[in-house]
Amino acid sequence: MILHDIQCKPTLPKYAIGIDFGTTNCVVAIYHNEQVQYLKIEESDVIPTAIQYTKNDVIIGKNALEKGILNIKSLISNSDLISTYKYEHKIENEDLLLYTCQGWKSCIEIAANIFQFLRFKISKQVNENVHHTVLTVPTRFDDTTKHKIVKAAQQGGWTVTRVLTEPTAALLALHHQKNLKNGIYGVYDLGGGTFDFSVVKIYNEICHVLSTSGDTQLGGNTFDIELQKHHSYTIQKIQKLRENEKLQVQNAQFITSQTVVIMNKALADANISICDLHGIILTGGASQIQCIQDTVKSLHSNIIYGDAMKNVAYGAALQSHKLLHSAEHLLLDATPLSIGIESLNQEIEWMITKNTVIPTFATQIFTRAHPQQTSIKFNIVQGEEALLCKCISLGKFEIPIQPGDVSIEVKFLVDENNMLSVTATNLDDGKKYTLLASITKPLTLKKIFSLQQNS
Ligand SMILES: Nc1ncnc2c1ncn2[C@@H]1O[C@H](COP(=O)(O)OP(=O)(O)OP(=O)(O)O)[C@@H](O)[C@H]1O
Ligand SMILES: [Mg+2]
Repeated sequence: MILHDIQCKPTLPKYAIGIDFGTTNCVVAIYHNEQVQYLKIEESDVIPTAIQYTKNDVIIGKNALEKGILNIKSLISNSDLISTYKYEHKIENEDLLLYTCQGWKSCIEIAANIFQFLRFKISKQVNENVHHTVLTVPTRFDDTTKHKIVKAAQQGGWTVTRVLTEPTAALLALHHQKNLKNGIYGVYDLGGGTFDFSVVKIYNEICHVLSTSGDTQLGGNTFDIELQKHHSYTIQKIQKLRENEKLQVQNAQFITSQTVVIMNKALADANISICDLHGIILTGGASQIQCIQDTVKSLHSNIIYGDAMKNVAYGAALQSHKLLHSAEHLLLDATPLSIGIESLNQEIEWMITKNTVIPTFATQIFTRAHPQQTSIKFNIVQGEEALLCKCISLGKFEIPIQPGDVSIEVKFLVDENNMLSVTATNLDDGKKYTLLASITKPLTLKKIFSLQQNS
């Protein structure tokens, strides 16, 4: 693989790009001249997320399936999953590193190589040096994981113009293709490694996400891991088996029932019952499993099918086009998890609750708890309010304070990318602290143009 750019004169981007960086497959969609096409590699629009390092080369896609690293997105989201794979690994500064023929590489670096490969290939396909993309992520990824995925894309040479949740992207695709009537829809997205269910209201061309629920470790791979436990196959061999071969040795019931529980949770959060839905969109490769389709069909009479593997990238490219052309933005997405601050007595004060329409913000003033206190500590957490033990810490911070009265204002902002930033201001001396910074900044067409002129 040669990783260098195609040189061309700076012009306004002609192609609006959307990337679905999947656990099992990557799909890159390109919106151009009111049509969506896909990046094709070896005749296929669906590129296995597999990467193999040899001494002098990096092989990505189908040819890396046999001996390469798989499921890198799952490892970025949860490094504990490494025990499932037989990769030589170590943890350094909280980063998971894998040993490759080219030495130790962090998971972000490995993902960055895949992003770089996609950018190079797509630039070659459209004969233009592309940089800007909308990137999709599962709804349930916490901020730390989203940051890592965006960082990998940035290291791969992409400017991420928007981060969009996968089911929302699938809905945009289906709405564009089938012109869905006003009403409330469910999006059932079962991919290789993650399951998401979103409840979305469509009215007069506005898509409003009412609630989301999901599991970042439930998908087609759940079968593969079960297979691995019961047979002496390697994960590489399993992922090469044909779908029907896999399903002969499987019972999909255990996955199906888990997805129904999650679906009911999202419906309850939106305060509706399944019969209030106008239809359920089925998307993600594993939603093609017959037993899953039968279950969802038994729950609702209107099942909407699209191109299960490509809907997400299609929707991302549409969104990319809207952003490039400053089209009226009619998407109201929602926060997937609640965000709060853990106080001294380990209670969490929730600042932004899940399913709040984004962008959104919240502020809170903190004062000293004891006269001798020399600093105020903050632990910023994210998760389900009902599942405190599963909440994750996004970061712990300590702000020094002077004797006397003190007021620290902490501001939480969730931007249109669903990315969180947290700042604290000491109202007494005006000092500002950035506790968490969002790494994406939405770009206007003007900004993109000026960047290109200067590049
Ligand atoms: N025809 C099919 N029947 C059953 N399962 C299928 C079929 N095609 C693909 N799959 C399964 O779908 C999964 C891949 O789907 P997809 O490409 O949508 O996932 P992904 O986008 O890579 O993952 P995620 O969205 O979870 O990050 C694999 O587990 C694969 O075994
Ligand atoms: Mg997917």
